Amino acid sequence: MPGTILPAVDGRTPSVLVTGATGNLGREVVDRLRTRDVRVRCLSRDQIDPRPGVESVRGDLTDPAVVRSALAGVDAVLLMWPLLDSAPARDLVAELAAAAPRVVYVSSTAIDDEVARQSDPIVQVHADMEALLNDAGLRPVVLRSDTLASNARGWAAQVKAGDVVAGPDIARTAVVDERDVADAAVAALLWDDDQREHGPHVLTGPEILSRADQVASLGAALGRSLLFDVVPADLARSRMLADGRPEHLVEALIAAPVRRPESNRITDHVERLTGRPPGTFRQWAVDHAAEFS
Ligand SMILES: NC(=O)c1ccc[n+]([C@@H]2O[C@H](COP(=O)([O-])OP(=O)(O)OC[C@H]3O[C@@H](n4cnc5c(N)ncnc54)[C@H](OP(=O)(O)O)[C@@H]3O)[C@@H](O)[C@H]2O)c1
Repeated sequence: MPGTILPAVDGRTPSVLVTGATGNLGREVVDRLRTRDVRVRCLSRDQIDPRPGVESVRGDLTDPAVVRSALAGVDAVLLMWPLLDSAPARDLVAELAAAAPRVVYVSSTAIDDEVARQSDPIVQVHADMEALLNDAGLRPVVLRSDTLASNARGWAAQVKAGDVVAGPDIARTAVVDERDVADAAVAALLWDDDQREHGPHVLTGPEILSRADQVASLGAALGRSLLFDVVPADLARSRMLADGRPEHLVEALIAAPVRRPESNRITDHVERLTGRPPGTFRQWAVDHAAEFS
C-alpha cells in the first residue's frame, strides 16, 4: 500500500486539510504531508507556527462557517474529533457531505463493535462519529488508533521534578507510536481511489503495556529508575476538580481508567498501511528523552 498518491484533480495539485493540526498526532501528519506533492491546510483553534507550504485556518471545529472555509477546494481531510460529545459534529458532517472530500477519520481501537454502548464517553464519541460519517454517506477511511505514545508527554513535569509519576491507572493496551499513526494517515489520505480500503484499520503498537511499563521505559531511556504510583480514581477525580477542570471532562477522564477493559489485541495494520512494522514504546522514549529532562 505505501507509495501511492492522491490523484491530481483537473491538473491541479491536490489539497489536504488536517484538523487537530497543532496536536501530537496532527503535527506529525503535517510534517509528513509537507514533503509530498500536495497542498496542506491546517485547522485548529490556536495559532499554528507558520511553515513554508502550509496554509492555516484558525477556528473551532464546531463552527460551520470555519469548517466551510477550511474545506473550500480541499480533496482529502484528516478528521479528528477531540471533543467529548458528538452532537456538535452534526454541522461539521453536513459541511463535509456538501464538500464531499475524501475523509480519513482518527478513531479508537477501544471501540467494541458488538455492544450498543461503549465502555466510556471518549470511546462512545468515536463510535458515534464513525456512525455519523457513514450515515451521511461519506464512507470514511477509519483509522482506529490505540493509545498514542505521545500521551506520555503529560508526565514530563513529574519526571523532571522527581522519580515518581503519579496518576490513575488504566488497563494495559498496545500503545502505538503517533509517528506510525501519522504514516498510516498519510498513506490513507493519498491512496488512489481504487486502492482505498475503508477499514476500520486497527493501529496498534507491538507490545501490550501498562502505565508502569511505560514509565519504566522512560526511566531506562533517561538512565533513571522511575516508578508509577497508582492514584485511586476517586482521589484523582477530586484533585482534577480542585484544579478547576470542568466536571464533564473529569468524569470522562476518570471513566477510561475505571471502565475501559484490558486489550490483548496486536495487529499488523500499521505495517499493512506503512510497509514497516510499528515502533516500540522503548524507542519512542529514547527518541523523546530530551523532552523529559
Ligand atoms: N491520544 C490518544 O491516545 C488517542 C487514541 C485514539 C484516538 N485519538 C484521537 O486522535 C486525535 C488526536 O489525538 P492527540 O493526542 O494528538 O490530541 P491532542 O494532542 O490533544 O490534539 C488535539 C488537537 O485538536 C485541536 N482541537 C481541540 N479541540 C478543537 C476544536 N473544538 N476545534 C478545532 N480544533 C480543536 C487542538 O488544537 P487547538 O487546541 O489549538 O484547537 C489540537 O490540535 C483526537 O481526535 C483523539 O480523539 C487519540
